[in-house]
Amino acid sequence: MHFAIKKHIHWVGKIDWELRHFHGQEYTTHRGSSYNAYLVKDEKTVLIDTVWFPFSHEFVENLKKEIPLDQIDYIIANHAEPDHSGALPELMQCIPDTPIYCTANGAKFLKGHYHQDWNFQVVKTGDKLNIGTRDLIFIEAPMLHWPDSMFCYLTEDNILFSNDGFGQHLASELMYNDLVDQGELFQEAIKYYANILTPFSAQVTRKIKEVVDLNVPVNMICPSHGVIWRKDPMQIVDTYVKWADAYAENQITLIYDTMWESTRKMAETIAKGILSADSSITVKLFNVSTSDKNDVITEIFKSKAVLAGSPTVNKGILSSLAGLFEEVIGLRFKGKKAAAFGSYGWSGESVKVISDKLEQGGFELLNEGLREKWNPNSQAVENCFNFGKSIGETLKS
Ligand code: FEO
Repeated sequence: MHFAIKKHIHWVGKIDWELRHFHGQEYTTHRGSSYNAYLVKDEKTVLIDTVWFPFSHEFVENLKKEIPLDQIDYIIANHAEPDHSGALPELMQCIPDTPIYCTANGAKFLKGHYHQDWNFQVVKTGDKLNIGTRDLIFIEAPMLHWPDSMFCYLTEDNILFSNDGFGQHLASELMYNDLVDQGELFQEAIKYYANILTPFSAQVTRKIKEVVDLNVPVNMICPSHGVIWRKDPMQIVDTYVKWADAYAENQITLIYDTMWESTRKMAETIAKGILSADSSITVKLFNVSTSDKNDVITEIFKSKAVLAGSPTVNKGILSSLAGLFEEVIGLRFKGKKAAAFGSYGWSGESVKVISDKLEQGGFELLNEGLREKWNPNSQAVENCFNFGKSIGETLKS
């Protein structure tokens, strides 16, 4: 399936309906994804990005139906990650001398992946490539989300090709933001931001300011995953500005695992306590051993506070929660509060272990946490309720 975004700009990517895990098993893609590549025809013809390598052959064969490959004058590699560069080896076998425009890091990373000395043309922010009646202007976007990442802007049509930025793992044949379900679109967009871009929020803010300060019109934003932003395209830019600024909704999320239901009972009672203090707040509970990790991280991203619980096991915590912390610590959330809770039978270290991990992840502790021995009795249930109530009162907005 190829389609024309404009008469002279064709989408030549691949919709991956089957994809359910991305980055190995690290990122769940409940709604599939797409690898968007674009062919721009002016006096010169430019290919912007390619697709993931399992689809290399299909990509190159379909591209041949679009244009004789030797008529492609330039290739733009906005990002070296293999979901966008994966078809380059097969394509470059057909057109080995075609220049590939990328950042300095892009050239290094592409060489690192494919060990080929292709005709790399290194560009910097502000460099222009004239393709006839239009220019492509390059904008380096380091750490959005790799050091090599780059955007490019097509004059006359006023289109920003943003690669991973503003993308979503969303497979849809509808391909435009105004045609798809808005709930699904923004769920996938926020999940992408929360799980991939959170650590780079300072760079997001700076880069968006830089692009806005260019004061150029943006009629369309064409990312390399998901749908194209053509209706009010700046809405996703404005939304990114909010997400990059220590984003939080009026939500508290409880994440826990449980062995014999005691920590689960604590979590549910704490939630009741929070709601008794503030009935307007959204409270969500996730047993992390049975929940999708990336969905939970998205909920943490949306929360102003996170309460984390585990029973004590071997002086530590259950591995499901420990594994989640490994990722949460790396994401470096900003401006969020937190507290720990958990049941124990004899030694009872889990609350301290969790509190340390929360602090390591940049969360501000609300208190020393709550631990209760064995299956919560009526006094322990009251303690849990009051623990939640106190947090609800403290965080009431
Ligand atoms: Fe979609 Fe960073 O690759």
